[in-house]
Amino acid sequence: MSVTVIVGSQWGDEGKGKIVDILSERFDIVVRYQGGANAGHTVEIGDKKFILHLIPSGILRENVLCVIGNGVVIDPKALLDEISLLEGMGISIKNRLLISHNAHLIMPYHKLLDSISESGSAKIGTTGRGIGPCYIDKYARKGIKIVDLLDKKVLEEKIKQNLEEKNNLLKKVYNQEELDVEEIIKEYQAFDKEIDQYITDVPLFLNTALQEEKSILLEGAQGALLDIDFGTYPYVTSSSPTSGGASIGSGIPPTKITSVTGIVKAYTTRVGLGPFPTELLDEDGEKLRKIGAEFGATTGRPRRCGWYDAFLVNYSRMINGIQRVAITKLDVLSQFDKIKVCVGYEIKGKRLKSFPTNENQLKQITPVYETLNGWNSEISNLTDYNQLPSEAKDYLQFMSLQSGFEISIISLGPKRSQTIEL
Ligand code: GDP
Ligand code: IMO
Ligand code: MG
Repeated sequence: MSVTVIVGSQWGDEGKGKIVDILSERFDIVVRYQGGANAGHTVEIGDKKFILHLIPSGILRENVLCVIGNGVVIDPKALLDEISLLEGMGISIKNRLLISHNAHLIMPYHKLLDSISESGSAKIGTTGRGIGPCYIDKYARKGIKIVDLLDKKVLEEKIKQNLEEKNNLLKKVYNQEELDVEEIIKEYQAFDKEIDQYITDVPLFLNTALQEEKSILLEGAQGALLDIDFGTYPYVTSSSPTSGGASIGSGIPPTKITSVTGIVKAYTTRVGLGPFPTELLDEDGEKLRKIGAEFGATTGRPRRCGWYDAFLVNYSRMINGIQRVAITKLDVLSQFDKIKVCVGYEIKGKRLKSFPTNENQLKQITPVYETLNGWNSEISNLTDYNQLPSEAKDYLQFMSLQSGFEISIISLGPKRSQTIEL
């Protein structure tokens, strides 16, 4: 019986979708445990490209059952759009998707408040999907849950209560127009008809599946450095993408988790604002973005690019308990003569012992680099580790040594076939 957590080890977009799709062939159930439609997980199969936002990437394997856990915040419209897009592409969803009755709903005012807060001076560079404001309401104990869709009266009452406060805020604090209560009630009451069929007691379902010795893959969204507690706060998301979040966001007890696999991009990217010690603002950064097609899968924004930060991933390995990793996008480095790796941080000439998540400290960092030779040859069609150029093997070994992990998968392109398992 295997219960494996997949975590992004950097700032998201490491290629989690591709690796979850590869691994889910061997699992019975795939669960999303946090985040929402801020995620964009890409899977390329043949000439089809799927970008999953809320539905687990396991949905593309027909024998896999997919679950959206209580830790996820669900925009019902985004969910229904995603379901119909997938169905239109020939993927069956009925009887293959379960949604936790305890997941919280993203409401129109969450998206509005997200955009208002991003127009102020304390910008984060969010995806604008209402994620932060929805989690605020969850923790303020004012949120509206998926289960509330099942009772029209309860739903109406909760929307009215919430809108009284939100409209006050919009009008008096932000000088905005009030939202129409009746319109929102009508819109959300209609979701019940379509979403009802998926609603389940997820902790019960998953724990029963464990008793039946089913294997479960827990698919994290975002990445460890975007974690609300362990990330580069305040430039983070509002949930817990790290492996600890997998338990809280699904109802699978920590004692049942058997392994944690980190997804590690062979260089570093970040979307949105916040510190990024190894960021390249020169032509090398531009080259990484171009070759790696580093544009957001959800917002289309250009991703900031930089060298691999082994010091950061070592921290990520520690807080997630990562045992094995999948290295993705190694092919993107194939056209570089020299490749740098950050092996540590210095502040005023003093080497840091541990990764600082503090914003002020992060601003003062000078990365310490080691330079490795590139391999300058096409590797995206290789199928065996032994075929890799010796410089590429050296690079992988250096990553592994510096960040303290064991490599179990190497990805050399977006397609299923461009994957080497060790
Ligand atoms: P996720 O959010 O972690 O699932 O990652 P995204 O889907 O946002 O971004 C990863 C991008 O890289 C997608 O466009 C993938 O199709 C692509 N990709 C994944 N693995 C590889 C790889 O090994 N090489 C290349 N060139 N592209 C990859
Ligand atoms: P996947 O799952 C990369 C970033 C946003 C912003 C910050 C907060 O595809 O790896 P939010 O909308 O969550 O309040 O934004 O987090 N962010 C991501 N960056 N990949 C993601 O998801 C992200 N989800 C959120 O750009 O900096
Ligand atoms: Mg992504």
